[in-house]
Amino acid sequence: MKKYRVLFVCLGNICRSPAAEGIFKKMAKDQGLSNQITVDSAGTAGYHNGELPDPRMRQHGARRGYDFDSYSRMFIEEDYDRFDIILAMDDNNYRNILRLSPDVEFQKKVYRMVDFSQQYSHDHIPDPYYSGAEGFELVLNLLEDACAGLLDKIKKGEL
Ligand code: 4NP
Repeated sequence: MKKYRVLFVCLGNICRSPAAEGIFKKMAKDQGLSNQITVDSAGTAGYHNGELPDPRMRQHGARRGYDFDSYSRMFIEEDYDRFDIILAMDDNNYRNILRLSPDVEFQKKVYRMVDFSQQYSHDHIPDPYYSGAEGFELVLNLLEDACAGLLDKIKKGEL
């Protein structure tokens, strides 16, 4: 299988994208694909640079067997070179990512996370930062579903 480098991007890189990174890493590992797939995450804003994911996200993830332990960093233009597939959690993230590259070839690497949803029909992954527990659970449900869809497409060579 071709090697893929996958980057998940949200706003703060402390809730949605580190959760997507942890879920996708575990899925790839469980299917014996860790050597073929590199996974990272970043935020379009730098408010939380160097921080671990939000404790609420870590707690909800731990209940499902995930360890969300990456440190927050900002998305930078070089990420277009360093990754093959870039996934935006919502439309603001999508626009902010595209703004960093005028190159149409690079822009083809950018997708919306919900493009890979299988069971859900949400048009974005909602920011859970100001929500209660149900917001974090919804994000995990949406991410598990879309990560499975993404991995499926990668395995079929469709990306
Ligand atoms: P994320 O959530 O983009 O999923 O990491 C947020 C985290 C922090 C803030 C907003 C969204 N904030 O405003 O600090």
